[in-house]
Amino acid sequence: MLNQIYLAPMEGVLDHRLRGLLCAIGGIDQCVTEFIRITDKTYPKRVYEKIYPEMHSSSKTFNNTPVKPQILGDNPQAMAANALKLTQLGAKSIDINFGCPAKTVNNSGGGSVLLQFPDKLYAIVHEIRQALPEHITVTAKVRLGFKDDSLFMENVKAIESAGASELTIHARTKVQGYKPPAHYHKIAEINQHTNIKLIANGEMWSTQDIERAIKITGVTDIMLGRGALACPELALRAKGIQISPITWGHICLLLLYYAKNLETDCPEKYQHALLKQWLIYLRYQYGEAHLFFEEVKKLTSAKAIQCALYKTIRERAKPIEDNLSVGQLDLSDFYIELFN
Ligand SMILES: Cc1cc2nc3c(=O)[nH]c(=O)nc-3n(C[C@H](O)[C@H](O)[C@H](O)COP(=O)(O)O)c2cc1C
Repeated sequence: MLNQIYLAPMEGVLDHRLRGLLCAIGGIDQCVTEFIRITDKTYPKRVYEKIYPEMHSSSKTFNNTPVKPQILGDNPQAMAANALKLTQLGAKSIDINFGCPAKTVNNSGGGSVLLQFPDKLYAIVHEIRQALPEHITVTAKVRLGFKDDSLFMENVKAIESAGASELTIHARTKVQGYKPPAHYHKIAEINQHTNIKLIANGEMWSTQDIERAIKITGVTDIMLGRGALACPELALRAKGIQISPITWGHICLLLLYYAKNLETDCPEKYQHALLKQWLIYLRYQYGEAHLFFEEVKKLTSAKAIQCALYKTIRERAKPIEDNLSVGQLDLSDFYIELFN
């Protein structure tokens, strides 16, 4: 039986605006920021603010979904000092990234490369746990291993004994990258040998995938990444919450809404790339997104993409006007403002 749904951290894709939007559509219980990379110093507030602006709204998105900041690095003292500062700025929980496969990150010692060293995992989690007040939770996110999964059990034990209270497991090694399948049976095995709360993650694109993951892992809390971007109402559907049909027109309206959000505080030069990033995932679910992506992929201005969306809605994909909600997000006022 499904319990909580977490929205995955996705660097360069799930910025605060998009995570706010997906949470407002509904079904998501918690989310995690993109990672904040920690070197050897404690950052000034503005560095955290960029990735974690929810610090100014009680660590919640605009529809009140809790958000926790994620940190990444390999220096336990520096990570603990930054974690403490984040809690002083409002974080109620700190997540540690031990899963990132990126070369630049791994070369500087952070992310999944640490999965080769259970002692280091222990030292980082322990230092952070010791530095923070008791009511602040410390959580972590791992893959099954770096080259292989031979240290998986040892890694989980290290993280648990160092005082983390939740562990998200992306059920693949670093070497397996994002190649299907996700190895849920590995989560099932570890679930037999640990008391830490586990969250299963990887390759859940549909309600059937989610049911299968829960059945195999025996874990009832799950994290959705690419699946939630491809199908924004997936979390609602997984929870069996009835919603009106969502057409390609609704998705275009949602993209326009996101584009308008980007205009408020994202530098113009990044806006078109963020819109295209989301479109890339929407292609998994919506055939029309393929054609639309081809139409806009060479555009380098968000305004031009907005025009193409506007035209598509008006000429080809007008949503029925008595159904202008995407899940629990009502876009009627936005639609009226744009089209009347
Ligand atoms: C573009 C991209 C960026 C990601 N950024 C992060 C990140 O900042 N922190 C993290 O822990 N995982 C990150 N991940 C991994 C996801 O959180 C998740 O574990 C992975 O995508 C598997 O879940 P999914 O199959 O539901 O997408 C990223 C994945 C992708 C594809």
